[in-house]
Amino acid sequence: MEINGKTAYRTLNVLFAAAEADPFIKIGGLGDVAGSLPNAISYLSTKKHTFPSVDIRLVLPFYPQLKAREIPSDLITTFTIKSTDGLLQAEVFSTNFSGITTYLVSGDPIIRSQMVYSSDFRLDAEKFIFFSLACLLLPHALGWKVDILHLNDWHTAIAAHVLKKTVLKPRELKHTRTILTIHNLPFMGAGAEPGLAKFRVKPATNKDLPKWGRRLPLPMGLAAADQIIAVSPKYSKEILTSKYGCDLQNFLATRQSHISGILNGIDTQHWNPATDPHITENYDSQNLQKKKINKVAILKEFNFKQKVKIPLLILVSRMDPQKGVDIAIEALKLIKDVPWQAILLGTGDPNLENACKALVELLPEKVRALMQFDSKLSRRLYAGADILMMPSRYEPCGISQMIAMRYGCIPVASATGGLVDTIQDAENNDNATGFLSPEANSQSFSHTLLRAIETYQNQDQWHQLMISAMAQDFSWDRSAQQYIERYTSLAHGYIKKR
Ligand code: GLC
Repeated sequence: MEINGKTAYRTLNVLFAAAEADPFIKIGGLGDVAGSLPNAISYLSTKKHTFPSVDIRLVLPFYPQLKAREIPSDLITTFTIKSTDGLLQAEVFSTNFSGITTYLVSGDPIIRSQMVYSSDFRLDAEKFIFFSLACLLLPHALGWKVDILHLNDWHTAIAAHVLKKTVLKPRELKHTRTILTIHNLPFMGAGAEPGLAKFRVKPATNKDLPKWGRRLPLPMGLAAADQIIAVSPKYSKEILTSKYGCDLQNFLATRQSHISGILNGIDTQHWNPATDPHITENYDSQNLQKKKINKVAILKEFNFKQKVKIPLLILVSRMDPQKGVDIAIEALKLIKDVPWQAILLGTGDPNLENACKALVELLPEKVRALMQFDSKLSRRLYAGADILMMPSRYEPCGISQMIAMRYGCIPVASATGGLVDTIQDAENNDNATGFLSPEANSQSFSHTLLRAIETYQNQDQWHQLMISAMAQDFSWDRSAQQYIERYTSLAHGYIKKR
């Protein structure tokens, strides 16, 4: 339907590009989001008849380890990408995941780098520049007009830059607008220069960008994207400060009117203590005594003497400096004479893994550590534990705290980024859901842990905390709705719903 030359009712086409998406491939939080946000948007659009309806499709690199899983997929198109090594062929396969059409892009730079994220920055940059360029060629190859190209992090950011610089656009990209979601600002695509040269991508010319940023994929994308979305409202403000802005704060200030925050959600069916088949006893906020059965079981599993009355603290995290694992370790040392027991789970930085093991040696009665990724065990921990420790140095959104709250496991976290947006501190607050440490250091974190441990002694107050935490709505619905609104207000030729 045309009104004043504008299309009133038409499906809004969105191509969602990411380096990882669960269940295809997942390394970190980006994989969780890219694996659930498109589905949430599509669900909202079809089941609740949003205006307009949204056809959202996912595009991922076809990593060798993904190919090895022999996911049923069809080769649907091939095209070539120009490089200084000549024309490189891209092959695009199509598959379907819970109703979402997913395109998997293969090609020499993707096959050659082997890993999802390799320690060779150069290889990574080449792979993701190739992938980003393929995302721009795909709509024409499919004959599919794209309204919104939704990019995520540095891996796909360069597509916004190249699209903006392209003078002769195919009709499928004529009116395409770009959104770049920032999940993690410090990762900008270091080592990309040879890759940019190889694919003849010219540097950014934006004078507000620091010189070093004009040749880095993320800043280049941030300068070109029509909208920038951070994964929480708080982080969208923090990136404008010198503390969190990674030296891009002054440049980001020039783009402030295009920056906003949308909080991530979690899949509340997937993370549900009432139905979770991997925990010892299912429970909800009406029968919290059953949560205790999970605590007894996990204490037994980890060979603790059965001290159910002592708070059980957990750390479930990538072993990464960002997550403040060292802060937690030092804070626990500071309060070693107070009664608590702790289990640390995760893999990553060998130094941090060793520090966890050293804490077990120092406090063998109180601490257990398992240096591995184990998603089923993490569920038993959320179900059995009283407190989740999350002393992040920065946290664009954070997922574990939302999962923990859903399982009645109370977060003790740094007051940063999405942690502030999702946790309400217990100080003078009847609707509290956790405890926030003002600073990300061991002193501040140990004080906050003590505050939580003291509160734990008052079981009525603790019970209320659990009830409030479990009552929080962290489902994707709200975020999906907000993304659809952003798409609609940004897309060319839409009449806003009155
Ligand atoms: C990154 C951020 C994390 C966020 C996730 C998903 O991993 O560090 O805070 O939750 O992306 O957006």
